[in-house]
Amino acid sequence: MTTRPLLIAPSILAADFGHLAADLGRVLDAGADWLHLDIMDGQFVDNISFGPAIVKLVRGLTTRPLDVHLMIERADHYIPRFAEAGADSITVHVEPEAKHDVAASLRMIRERGCRAGLTLNPATPFAALEPHLPDVDLVLIMTVHPGFGGQSFRPGMMEKVRRARELRESLGADYDIEVDGGINPDTSAVSIENGANVLVAGTSVFKAADYAGAICALRGD
Ligand code: DX5
Ligand code: ZN
Repeated sequence: MTTRPLLIAPSILAADFGHLAADLGRVLDAGADWLHLDIMDGQFVDNISFGPAIVKLVRGLTTRPLDVHLMIERADHYIPRFAEAGADSITVHVEPEAKHDVAASLRMIRERGCRAGLTLNPATPFAALEPHLPDVDLVLIMTVHPGFGGQSFRPGMMEKVRRARELRESLGADYDIEVDGGINPDTSAVSIENGANVLVAGTSVFKAADYAGAICALRGD
């Protein structure tokens, strides 16, 4: 079994948008490995966040990987703009409500030079991802229903994390396993134990007084 590096990806949704550059500077100085950018369109999820212009602004602040999570309808229409804005990885949803051809979107992401991620809502069975696993670089297991930060982690999703790990082994596939939603030092430990190696965290990092301490705590240091 290959050991994958453990990566902490603060979700900028919880950052201070009045002082975004300064706040992201702090979180990068504190040791964030990636930045996670949540894109919400008010259709696929019941919230609206930000678009490619903010991704481009963040791109100008760091060379560290930008992990873009598209919670939008018609991702295929917008993928080129997020790639152009500087995304390193782009993750799309598998649910039919996302209204795109999943396989075609994953191909498009890779053709644009980005890592391709696939994700699913808590209510969606893992089987929905299975046909696509050989074609992804990242499997994101949502541990809350997407749309808002600050929700509680759903431990029942760990079964999906374990399944992602088992299938990576049996298929000889090669993807990171990422969790998103309600990640704090306790739930990160549970997620790592079950096989996750990329931890997205909004509230538990940006609402902490000490970002470096919060990031170390997520790593289990
Ligand atoms: C949820 C988003 C998450 C969210 C995580 O819709 O995909 O990335 O920002 O926030 P916390 O860590 O506060 O649950
Ligand atoms: Zn996210």
